[in-house]
Amino acid sequence: MTFSAKRWREDFPILRPSAKGRWVYLDSAATTQKPEAVLRAVDDYYRRYNANVHRGVYRIAAEATERYEEARQRVARFIGGDPRGLIFTRNTSEAINLVAYAWGLDNLKEGDAILVTAAEHHSNLVPWQLVAKRTGARLRVIPLDEEGHLDLSQLPELLEGVKMVALGHASNVLGTVNPVEEVIRAAHEKGALVLLDAAQSVPRMPVDVKALDCDFLAFSGHKMLAPMGIGVLWGKPEILEKMAPFLGGGEMIGRVEWEGSTWREIPWKFEAGTPNVGGAIGLLAAVDYLEKVGMAAIARREEELGQLMARRLRELPGVVVYGPRGQRTGIVAFNVEGVHPHDVSQILDEEGVAIRAGHHCCQPLHRLLQAGSSCRASVYLYNDEEDVDRLVAAVQKVREVFRVPG
Ligand SMILES: Cc1ncc(COP(=O)(O)O)c(C=O)c1O
Repeated sequence: MTFSAKRWREDFPILRPSAKGRWVYLDSAATTQKPEAVLRAVDDYYRRYNANVHRGVYRIAAEATERYEEARQRVARFIGGDPRGLIFTRNTSEAINLVAYAWGLDNLKEGDAILVTAAEHHSNLVPWQLVAKRTGARLRVIPLDEEGHLDLSQLPELLEGVKMVALGHASNVLGTVNPVEEVIRAAHEKGALVLLDAAQSVPRMPVDVKALDCDFLAFSGHKMLAPMGIGVLWGKPEILEKMAPFLGGGEMIGRVEWEGSTWREIPWKFEAGTPNVGGAIGLLAAVDYLEKVGMAAIARREEELGQLMARRLRELPGVVVYGPRGQRTGIVAFNVEGVHPHDVSQILDEEGVAIRAGHHCCQPLHRLLQAGSSCRASVYLYNDEEDVDRLVAAVQKVREVFRVPG
C-alpha cells in the first residue's frame, strides 16, 4: 500500500490550503500539527467530562479518571512497556530532570561519571550538568565521526566509572539514529543505567522499551500529534520503586503526618498535583492515530523523504547539509553559504515554507559543526515529495536573492 500524505493531511485543519495556496510545514521536529481526532478528544473532555482525577466520586470525575488511566495503559502499550512505569510529565525536559534529580542526587557521588553524546539536546545535557555539580560526578562525552554517527571505538574506556548513560535515540539536528542497543548492552555490562532521550524517535519509528532494555525513556506528546504540556517518562518499575519522589504535593502521598509522609505506589508517586488530564487524553488519541497510520510505515516514509531532501539540497551549489549520506530520519539541517539561517527562513516563509532556524538547543554540536546556527527542515506523516520540491525551489530563491556563487 502506498503512503498517502495527502490523505492524512486532510485530517489537519491548520494544513488546509488557503486562498493563497498550500502552506508547507517543515518544522515537525519542533512540534507537530494536530489532527481532528486529537482536537476532538481534548474538546470532548473539556466540554463533557472535565473534572479532577482520582478524587471525585461523581460520574464525570470517574469518567475523567478512567480515561486518564486508559491513556497511561495505551501509551505504555505503544512503547511496549509496563504501565506501572509510565509517568506523565509536561515534556521530555521534565522527564529527564525527574531522573537526573530523583535518581541522580541519591545515586551519584564524587568520582562517578555520566556519559552523554556530542549531539545531545540541551534538555539531555543541562539537567546532568546541574546534578553533576551537586554530587561531584563528572560528565563524559561520546564523540562523533565525520558524518555525525557516534564513534564507539573507545566505548569500553568511556564507560569506566559511569553510573548513567544519557543519550539521544535520534538526533534533532543530524537526522542520525544512534545504535542504542549496542550502547545499552555495553553500559549494562559495566553496571550503568541508560536513559534514552526519545523525543525524536518515539514520534518517528517503532520503539519498544522491552526489546531495547533501556532503563528510562523520555518523550514529548507535542512532537507526536498530541497537545503541548504532556510528556512521558517511562522507567523500569523496579528502579522507580527505589527512587525518592521528584516533586511533593497532592496525589503522590500515602499518609501525611507533621513529622513526615509516605508515598503512593508508582507511577503516582511521581505525579504530584493535578495532572494534565486533557493532555493525556489528547496523547491517547494521538497514539490511536499513529497506530492507524502505522509506525513502521511512518519510519519508512521519514527515511525516504529525509534522503530525498538531503540529496536535493546537496545538489545546490553553496548549500551544506549536515549529517549522514546514508540512513537517516526526515530531519535535515543545512546552511546556505554566506546567508544567516534567519534570512533563509524568512525568505522561505515568504515562499510559504516553514522551517526552523537557530541552534536547535544543540550549541555544543553546532560548535563541532563549525556553524553558529543552521536551518532545519523536518517532515512528518503529512509531508510529501511536493513539499520537498517547494523547499528546494525556495532555497534556490535564497541563492538568487543573495547571489550565492555556483
Ligand atoms: C532530541 C530532543 N530532546 C529533547 C527535546 C526537548 O523536548 P521538550 O521541549 O518537549 O521538553 C527536544 C525538543 O526539541 C529534542 O528534539
